[in-house]
Amino acid sequence: MAMGSGAFTLALALALATYVIPEERKCQLSGLWRNELDSLMEISAVRDNGDFQGKYLTRVTLAGSCAHASPLRGAQQQPSEGGWPTFAFTVRWDKFSNATTAFTGQCFMDTGGKETLTTMWLLREAVGSLEEDWKATRVGRNVFTRKRIRKGKILPSLSPSCEDTSSPAP
Ligand code: BTN
Repeated sequence: MAMGSGAFTLALALALATYVIPEERKCQLSGLWRNELDSLMEISAVRDNGDFQGKYLTRVTLAGSCAHASPLRGAQQQPSEGGWPTFAFTVRWDKFSNATTAFTGQCFMDTGGKETLTTMWLLREAVGSLEEDWKATRVGRNVFTRKRIRKGKILPSLSPSCEDTSSPAP
């Protein structure tokens, strides 16, 4: 039996309501985030295939020195019906360190629309020999929340970098 056009439209609307998550209920990774260590990361637009890139400015360093904003690259799973997306990214610490960190996590949104990124990370520092390999990797957890900023503000302008903290030339 053929379905009438009214019934077909209703079925289509129901299917869309079931499978399409409204934009405002999606966890969007793009934007500026801050974790409990006060580190900042800025993720630029996530591509259709889930790939993304950005910059990370850590508040803490292994050596206790100042940090440069460092490049991050990652990939996000496609948000599915009833599930918050998982993602992973790496940060190649630039200029001030030979270390690399890999983060993996998931984006959650509460009923009020507040987004939280829960992550676990592995931080690999460079050691000088195979004998020292056992102590080269640290593991930890970071939780990020979105940092709202005025239009035009970008990550480096929000936090002092190595250049800003060095003593002025005589
Ligand atoms: C280094 O000090 O050699 C590199 C910086 C490492 C910063 C780590 S990565 C995991 C943790 N989360 C942060 O925001 N910063 C630290």
